[in-house]
This record gives sequence, structure tokens and C-alpha cells, in this order.
Amino acid sequence: MNLPKYVEIGTGIINQIPSELEKRTITGKMFVVSDSNTGSLYAGHIREVLKSNGHETEYYELPPGELTKSMEYVQTLYDWLYSSRAERSDVLIAVGGGVIGDLVGFVAATYMRGIKWVQVATTLLSQVDSSIGGKVAVDLDSGKNMVGAFHPPSLSLLDIDTLTTLPERDLSSGWAEAIKHGTILDTSHFEELEANFNNPRDPTLLLSAVTQSVLIKSRVVERDPYDQGFRAVLNYGHTIAHALETATAYKKLLHGEAVSIGMAGAAAISKKLDLISAKVQMRQNNLLERALLPVTYIDIDPNIISDAMKGDKKVSKGRPKWVLLNGIGKATIGHDVDNQLVLGVLNELQENQV
Ligand SMILES: NC(=O)c1ccc[n+]([C@@H]2O[C@H](COP(=O)([O-])OP(=O)(O)OC[C@H]3O[C@@H](n4cnc5c(N)ncnc54)[C@H](O)[C@@H]3O)[C@@H](O)[C@H]2O)c1
Ligand SMILES: [Zn+2]
Repeated sequence: MNLPKYVEIGTGIINQIPSELEKRTITGKMFVVSDSNTGSLYAGHIREVLKSNGHETEYYELPPGELTKSMEYVQTLYDWLYSSRAERSDVLIAVGGGVIGDLVGFVAATYMRGIKWVQVATTLLSQVDSSIGGKVAVDLDSGKNMVGAFHPPSLSLLDIDTLTTLPERDLSSGWAEAIKHGTILDTSHFEELEANFNNPRDPTLLLSAVTQSVLIKSRVVERDPYDQGFRAVLNYGHTIAHALETATAYKKLLHGEAVSIGMAGAAAISKKLDLISAKVQMRQNNLLERALLPVTYIDIDPNIISDAMKGDKKVSKGRPKWVLLNGIGKATIGHDVDNQLVLGVLNELQENQV
């Protein structure tokens, strides 16, 4: 399978944004949005490149962080677009990670019943995950991603060079989703990472991992675009991850860190159910650790994590549907798992337990 038409991956390619837009006949005034980290690093440069190629641009900068993915900033952007006389034929450009992408994508899905948008993804997590598949959303006080839409970008520009400025924890967080893709669906991608992983910043490895992740996720999305069945496979590691994030009020762990612990948990459950060997479990956890990710947690009560699982968006009749592993590259969806077994695994994942 080739890359989807809306995706462009490479090094130094933010300079090519005018020709990538032209290739996809994306025209109109360009409304660029970023946060205060990616603004000075990349958005300013992108505006210069656009302007020198004859594009008209406007710019809005938001505060960084998950709290920006809110209805308050949706309203802020609607007001800005309206007062800048944005028309249906104009384009929003998100420059940043998953937060800016999800928010801008949601605004693009709803402003004037939908306008085109472009994602310049500058975190590893957004390159391997959120820039693919068309899900856009904002958070409500009652929960994460509670309001959203399916509205794919017309262009996702994934420039590996932008990852050089990414803080170490954010880089590792993105690796969790990349490793997840190999673990659940692609043995050879997993083995390639296993053979070549020396340093999370290795640009050759990053380029190949982003490309492979985009291919793997796109195949899943193509089969189940509206998340009605098979796409749940991408939720591997996320049942425990979401519960960890809720239990710690999103303050302690980055998403990928929670996913990494969640993958360790899902593999432990798979092992207890005799679906995989101890060796498979160890191979997965070793690779996560080489990417400087945690596979255990500290200072969180396992009972609180277990309670948090019942409130997850993906539960059905109060019970989570687990994605488990049959082997490297072979995930299986829709499992019911006994509560006591889950609690046992949560206890084992706790560091310093006696
Ligand atoms: N839509 C989807 O399918 C999907 C999938 C996965 C995750 N998400 C969402 O993505 C969000 C998390 O995304 P994220 O991890 O990219 O977080 P983020 O957007 O908050 O970025 C992390 C931090 O890195 C900074 N940053 C971004 N690019 C940088 C760069 N190149 N150099 C230096 N700093 C940089 C940001 O300002 C921020 O402080 C969550 O809200 C999650 O729900 C969406
Ligand atoms: Zn995730």
C-alpha cells in the first residue's frame, strides 16, 4: 500500500509547503494556528515561506498544553476567523502537536459547516498517530475528546526535522504509539525497530518508523473509517492508559507513557491467559524500555485505576473490551477479562510492590 494522498513525509519538507498545497489544489487564504512553543520555532517560518509564494496569511497563537483543547478556544478561533472574514474556501493550518491538530481540525470541521485544513505535525505522537485517520476533537470538563468529528486534513505534512527540538519525554511518548503499531499489526516493523533501536533521536530510524506507522494506521482506518469495529485494535494498551490518565488527572504521565504502561499490562494479561509466551511479553517491554518508556508505575492506587476503567468511553455495559496479543504483530480485539485478573496485573505493574 502507498501512503495516503494527503500525507507527505520527509526531512526539511516544511519549506515545500507551497508546492505540496499546489499539488493538492489547496488554495485560499491561509489561517495559521500554533502554540507558543511551535509558533517561534516553525509557524513564523511557514508563514514567511507561504507569503513569499504569494499566499495571504493570518496568524493566531494559543497557549501550549491539553487545556487548550477546549470549547473556550474553539470559540476564540471561531471569533478570530469571523472577524478576519474567513470564507468557506479558505484554509486552516495547524502547526504543532496533537493538541493544536485536534483543536484546529475540530474548528475546521464545524466552521461554516466545514472548511479545509492542513496539519503540520511537529511531535512524534502527532506524526505517527493523530495526523492520520481524520479524528478531531476537544475535551469537556466531563472527559477527554468528548466532542469531535471525522474531518481528515487535506494535507498532513510530517517533517522529521521538526522533531530535533522536541523535549525528550515528548519524543519517547510518541515512540510508544509507533512501537504499538508494530506490536499489534506488523511483525517486520517490530523486528526492524528491535534490530536498530539505539537512540530515540536517530533520524533514519525516525523517518522509517513514521512512514511505517502511517502505513499501518492508514490500513486500519481504511478498513474501518468510522471506528465501528476493527479500528479498536489501535486501542491496544489504552484501557489501562486512559484509566491511569484519569486516576492522575492527566498531570503525572504523558499519553505515550501511560500507553507504554498499558501495553505492559495488556501483554501481562495476554500471558496470564496463555495467549503469548513470556518471551513475547519481554520483547515488547524491552523495546519500550529502550525508547526510555516506563513499563511500571508508582504512587497510584491500583483500585483507583480499576475504578477509572469503568468510566472509559470505550466500555460496553460497564466492562472494558480488551485488545490483547496473540504474538508479536498479532493483536486480537473484543476480549472480556475477569476483574480480579486485571487487578492482579495492576498490582504487578506497581513498582516497589512486595
Ligand atoms: N486525533 C487523533 O487521532 C489523536 C490520536 C492520538 C492523540 N491525539 C491527541 O493528541 C494530543 C497529544 O498530542 P502531543 O503529544 O503531540 O501533545 P502536544 O500537542 O501538547 O505537544 C507536546 C508539547 O510539545 C510542544 N511541541 C510541539 N512540537 C514541538 C517541537 N517540534 N519542538 C518543541 N516543542 C514542541 C508543544 O507545544 C507541547 O508543549 C492529545 O490531546 C491526544 O488526545 C489525537
Ligand atoms: Zn494513544
